[in-house]
Amino acid sequence: MTTKEIEETIHIPVEDATTAVRASEAQFIHDFLKQLDKPKTLEVGFGYGRSACYIMAATDDVHTVMDPFQNHYGRQALKNVEACGFGEKLTFLEEYSHHVLPEMVKDGKKYDVIFIDGDHKFDGIFVDFYYADMLVNQGGSILFHDTWMRSTQLVMSFIEKNRKDYRKMNIPQGNMALYQKIGEDQRNGMHFKEFYTTRKIVKHAFIQWIWGPKKGPIKTFVLWLKEKIRPTANR
Ligand SMILES: C[S@@+](CC[C@H](N)C(=O)[O-])C[C@H]1O[C@@H](n2cnc3c(N)ncnc32)[C@H](O)[C@@H]1O
Repeated sequence: MTTKEIEETIHIPVEDATTAVRASEAQFIHDFLKQLDKPKTLEVGFGYGRSACYIMAATDDVHTVMDPFQNHYGRQALKNVEACGFGEKLTFLEEYSHHVLPEMVKDGKKYDVIFIDGDHKFDGIFVDFYYADMLVNQGGSILFHDTWMRSTQLVMSFIEKNRKDYRKMNIPQGNMALYQKIGEDQRNGMHFKEFYTTRKIVKHAFIQWIWGPKKGPIKTFVLWLKEKIRPTANR
């Protein structure tokens, strides 16, 4: 199935379009996987299953994804995967990543590409990275979504300052970050490099205000302007 056909087949509610990765981001994942030789793939966070469908279209192979909240999304990711004909390739674990990932480590599972797009709180992303690191093959990659979020940025900063066994790859997607595992973790037990950054604090405060529950005329105007400049439906 082509990625164009995926877009014609899957359904993502317009009012919740921002939950899924953008089609352009999913296309990037697809094209990245296409260059690899039969990569084993793992994904945290199913959402509407857009990324999962593009991943399976690229690899034509099994794909494992976990998410305890499919019911919150009308089980639409599962419907999308079925509609695309990828149902038999999918291993869906309806559980929290903090339950599934340690079990996978215990079972000695290994993957070539791990896409982290689940719990977006700092500790959630950090825990997902902690286990993904144990599950990724040498030369394999860990991909993060939503790098506009301060939580993701701090996890990225941790990796860049503390994990010399990862190399940040140059990618054209502004809202994603890709790290390749290029060696062994050589840190001793006392290792710690400060990774807190003050960059983007103001931007983060703005984002929290704009998406926060308090309403008012200024916020209404800003949201109206944002929709005019970049309509959600065109993402
Ligand atoms: C942004 S959505 C993923 C979108 C998906 N990549 C797509 O393209 O449709 C994030 C998903 O992570 C799930 N999630 C949140 N916390 C999680 C956790 N602890 N473990 C696994 N999934 C989690 C949510 O239920 C949600 O479906």
